[in-house]
Order: sequence, then structure tokens, then C-alpha cells
Amino acid sequence: MAFRNIFRQPFTLFLTVLVSISPTIQQQLAVGDLNALHQIMYTLTDVKDGSFFSTWNFSSPGNPCYTFAGVTCAVVNRQLRVITLCLGTGLSDSPGLAGTISGDGIYGLTELTQLILYPGIVTGFIPSQIGRRNKNLRVISLTNNRLTGTIPASISELQNLHTLDLSHNKLTGVIPLALASALPDIRVLVLAYNNLAGEIPEFSDESQLIHLDMRNNKLSGNLPETLPATLRYLSLSSNGLWGPLNRVPSSYLVYLDLSMNQLSGPIPDSLFRPSLSSMYLQRNNFSGEVPAPPPSSFSVPYGPGSTVDLSHNFLSGEIPNFLDGVETLFLNNNHFTGKVPESYVGNVFAGTTRTLYLQHNYITSFPMEKGKEMVLPDGVALCLSYNCMVPPAVGLTACPASAGGPVSRPFRQCSVFNSGNSIG
Ligand SMILES: *[C@@H]1O[C@H](CO)[C@@H](O)[C@H](O)[C@H]1NC(C)=O
Ligand SMILES: *[C@@H]1O[C@H](CO)[C@@H](O)[C@H](O)[C@H]1NC(C)=O
Repeated sequence: MAFRNIFRQPFTLFLTVLVSISPTIQQQLAVGDLNALHQIMYTLTDVKDGSFFSTWNFSSPGNPCYTFAGVTCAVVNRQLRVITLCLGTGLSDSPGLAGTISGDGIYGLTELTQLILYPGIVTGFIPSQIGRRNKNLRVISLTNNRLTGTIPASISELQNLHTLDLSHNKLTGVIPLALASALPDIRVLVLAYNNLAGEIPEFSDESQLIHLDMRNNKLSGNLPETLPATLRYLSLSSNGLWGPLNRVPSSYLVYLDLSMNQLSGPIPDSLFRPSLSSMYLQRNNFSGEVPAPPPSSFSVPYGPGSTVDLSHNFLSGEIPNFLDGVETLFLNNNHFTGKVPESYVGNVFAGTTRTLYLQHNYITSFPMEKGKEMVLPDGVALCLSYNCMVPPAVGLTACPASAGGPVSRPFRQCSVFNSGNSIG
């Protein structure tokens, strides 16, 4: 008895505290949201070994806000509401979910700010009224599933939308015009790896977009005239875009990938700035000489980690001096002529240039120091085959299989581009 008395006092105190704060702890999830979660689970299921929904037990007395995986709640207008919903575990070894996304389920969660669907095999449409019914959404990420149909136009009504990622699905149709022009807060727009067609819509002057990725679709037409100046990351690779490249704002760009389109004309000098350290323009129809950039864009030179790929175009003129510091440089399969600048040779043998592909051009000389035995550092790849010279042996060891064939270009082709120059 004495033993009990010792503990009675603190125990009662503890209970009192618990009871007085219980309205918050015990607040139940709003009934509408509970029903919505029920509907969402009804049309989705774990793929065989998955266990995402194992915690979604509607018969258990626990509060879904604390017991259901992927559900986060907050008190909004004195009610406990679901504010984020992450469907799937997001673990890399998780098979994800199957089924469809219930529109009625999602629409019920009117305070939702984040909707995330992790990679899986979910099919069906994106709920078409999502932009009208879930007004508070800031993040929509429904990637790596099998969603079909078009991008709902209503998404352009989401005034707070910051991130939209619908990549790696089977979406078709055109990109709603307002998606680019009517979302004041959008920063990240990723529609890559779908079957979207038509032109890229024009962006609003006020757009603050930082990251735009529409690679691997079926987009066509010219580049938009109004790409946001705030962009840091731009990929439109592997589409059917054509026309000139004079509209890419480069001030803040660090990553640009326009490869595998049919863009043509010259490459503007404004794109050659070392701050744009990853530039992929290969496999287009670019022509003309590589322009010397304004010296002001070279406060820091190209250096470690930089990649420039201009391969498989129709570029001509001499190999430009100012790209000599690029770590991974592809200039192969163009119409470049003349001598490779000595600084390139130095950087390759110093190992600061790790990859230098110059094969399939009309180059006449790779000026190595005569008599000195030059050994390429480990891991450096140099390819010089099929030019207007007999390449040094070090210039053939790292050629890709696609550069096979004769080590030199037939003389009659060389005379056209290097009239008056001798070969060797
Ligand atoms: C759900 O909760 C109820 C009540 O706590 C329990 O009886 C039941 O076994 C649970 N179901 C599953 C699948 O865990
Ligand atoms: C690009 O070049 C290829 C090969 O020369 C040509 O067939 C194609 O018509 C060109 N496309 C454009 C849009 O200029």
C-alpha cells in the first residue's frame, strides 16, 4: 500500500495533464477527409510485395493522421485536415502501387498542399478537376507510372502551384497553354518522358520558372519566344523541335540540353559561358562557326565537371580556342577544319580534359611535341579518327565503335574543305 501511495500523486497529476491537452491530441480527422482517404484506397492497391496500405486500417481506432503511411495533417480552421498525401513508400526497392487515382477521393481533400505518387504501375487519368477542387496544391508529383490521357487544363488554375512533375508516364495531347502562362508561382515543371505533342506554349513575362524539363516527348515547332530568364535547368531533348536557337536566355542557366531535335542555324555566342557548365546540343542541324563569346562571360573558365557536346551537327570553321578547358568535350561529326589548338593537346595530356572527341571532321593537325613520347593519363579518352590527317596512335585507342572505319578521311573529301592545305 505504501508503495502505491508513493506513485498515486504523480500518476493523478499525469492523468490531469493528459486530459487537459487531449482535445488536441485526440482531435479526429475531418469526416470528409476520412471518406476521401477511403475512396483513394478503394481504387489503388499495393503491387504484390508492397506494403504501403498495410497501415491504412479504417477499422482501427487510431487516428489516420498518425497511423496511416503517407498522410500528414494539420489543423485548418479548427479542423484536422489532410495536407500532404504521399502514395507509395518512395523506397527505391518498392514495387509501388497499381490501380487508378480516384478523382472523388482526391477532390475530397480540399486542404491538400502536396500530392505525391511514387513510381509504380498506376493507370488511368489524372483527375480532371484537380485544379478547381484542390485549390491549395503547391506540389503535384505523379511520376514513373502509367498515367494516360491529357494534362488537365484545370491545373493552370492552381495559383499556389510551385512544382508539377508528371514525368515518365503515357500522357498524350498538347500541353495546356495556360500551364506556361497562368501559374504565377511555378518554379519546377517536369513533363519529360511522355507522348506529349504540339508546340511548347509561351511563358508569361512574370514567370519565375527555374527548372523546365520536357525531354523525350513528341513536341514540334519552334522554341517558345518567351522562355523565362530565370531558368537554371532547361531540357527539351529528344523532341521534334526545329528553327533557330536565338531565344534561349542564358544568364542563370547551368544545364542546357536541346540535343536530338532538328534545330538549325548558328549557335548564339551567349550560350558559351562557363557558368553554363553542362551543354548538350548534339544531333541537331546547327551550322556556321562556333562564335567567340564576349570575354565578360569568362570570369571563371570552363573547368572540372564541365561538359559541352556539339557533336553530330554541321558546324564549320576552326576548333574554337575558348573551349580548351572543358572537361568532357564532344565536337565530333561536324565540319571543323584546320589545326587543333595547342592548349587542347596540353590539357589532354595533363588529364584536365578527360574526354576529347574530334573524329569525323576535316581537321589537319593535332600538334603533339615531336620526338617526345606522350602517354595519355588513365581514363582520358581521345578520338581523332576520320579527319584530314594521319592521326597519332594515341588518338585512336579510345574511339567509340561508331567511329570505326578508316583512320583518315579520303583525300578527295579533304581538298574541298582545306583547299591549299597539305595533309599530315
Ligand atoms: C484493423 O484494426 C482492427 C481493430 O483494431 C483489427 O482488429 C484488425 O486486425 C486490423 N486489420 C488489419 C489488417 O491489420
Ligand atoms: C536537318 O538536316 C537533315 C539532314 O541534312 C535534313 O534531312 C533535315 O531536313 C534537316 N531538318 C531541318 C528542320 O532543317
